[in-house]
Amino acid sequence: MTDHELVSKAVEMQKFSYIPYSRFPVGAALLCGDGRVFTGCNVENAAYGSTICAERTALVKAVSEGYTSGFAAIAIAGQGGDYCWPCGACRQMLYEFAPDLRVLAVRGDGQFMEASLRNLLPHGFGPDSLG
Ligand code: THU
Repeated sequence: MTDHELVSKAVEMQKFSYIPYSRFPVGAALLCGDGRVFTGCNVENAAYGSTICAERTALVKAVSEGYTSGFAAIAIAGQGGDYCWPCGACRQMLYEFAPDLRVLAVRGDGQFMEASLRNLLPHGFGPDSLG
């Protein structure tokens, strides 16, 4: 799976976004070590704070099917001119399972940038932090 293919899967997932409030579709595609890809979209709620982001949808799908390690990369696709970097809550959730995850942030025209999750969440709090 190339980065471009992973990005395409994330973009494709935007069509499933449930976004009556923000109208901002986000798609995500999480690549596992064995090549499997878990996808997700944002799912909003009338109680706004109950909204779940695309990245966490994909991650929770993976973990709930037994994938808790070996994640290689995640692509996150938004719209507009800005790259769609993960929000703070998603960085924290991903850090639990993959502190060195490669993060591909995609903007509306399909261009993407890469960063390591460790750089996006410096001095992150993870399982080891509990001693
Ligand atoms: N959103 C995501 O799905 N992922 C992000 O990383 C940023 C924000 C969603 C949440 C909400 O449905 C919409 O984008 C606007 O914030």
